[in-house]
Amino acid sequence: MKRRAVIAGNWKMYKGGALGVELAQKLVVACGDLATVDVVVAPPFTALAAVAHELQGSRIDLGAQNLHPAAEGAFTGEVSAPMLLESGVRWVIIGHSERRQLFGETDDSVRDKVRAALEHGLRPIVCLGETLAEREAGRTLEVVHRQFDAFAATLASKPGFGVVAYEPVWAIGTGKVASVEQAEEVHSALRARLANHGPEVAERTRILYGGSVKPDNAAALLDQPNIDGALVGGASLDAESFCRIVAAAPSAA
Ligand code: 13P
Repeated sequence: MKRRAVIAGNWKMYKGGALGVELAQKLVVACGDLATVDVVVAPPFTALAAVAHELQGSRIDLGAQNLHPAAEGAFTGEVSAPMLLESGVRWVIIGHSERRQLFGETDDSVRDKVRAALEHGLRPIVCLGETLAEREAGRTLEVVHRQFDAFAATLASKPGFGVVAYEPVWAIGTGKVASVEQAEEVHSALRARLANHGPEVAERTRILYGGSVKPDNAAALLDQPNIDGALVGGASLDAESFCRIVAAAPSAA
């Protein structure tokens, strides 16, 4: 049986303030009432409260793009899980490749953030993926397994609550989508790895694909047995594109 799909929009550092409100309003009209797919949008921190307000009464959930593992403290510039919850956030993206590559995130910090999210009842969307050089060196599975093993036991402590997002770095923002076969190969390897934590964890954990997902390639990806959703960057900044991707997701009860 297909797991319930998750379609998440990562707005990155776009659509703050008024532009975020406008996009949220359009999304609510275009795909705000779907009961068969989990739809999530992750705006920049400054737009969270205003977007939460727009999403009220719709079925679209609010996500954040990062969190600090501590609940509070002297951590200038950081935001904690309780603060996100208070702003209406229910999901949080952790370990995105841009954070790993540009902001020094490590496998250890990713695990600590996953633990903090789970402790406070935020659903983590934990990202992993290989670079082009790693793929060309034949190291794709070695790299994603290493990234995965750092947080897997923590994620498995609440089966089905958090999700994993496979985002090959070479496919992000490049228009080069992984082929359906390339994506499914990694997703099925991750599913087998999840089984190390028990059959329930393997069966219930949703694994999203991210990297140049667009309305015209979404259906083929989402049709794969181990692809349970999409983490969408560029195409999530336009309500029509994002909602066409949502509409491409198989329905589940
Ligand atoms: P694009 O969809 O723009 O390739 O971005 C993917 C991504 O990084 C989502 O987190």
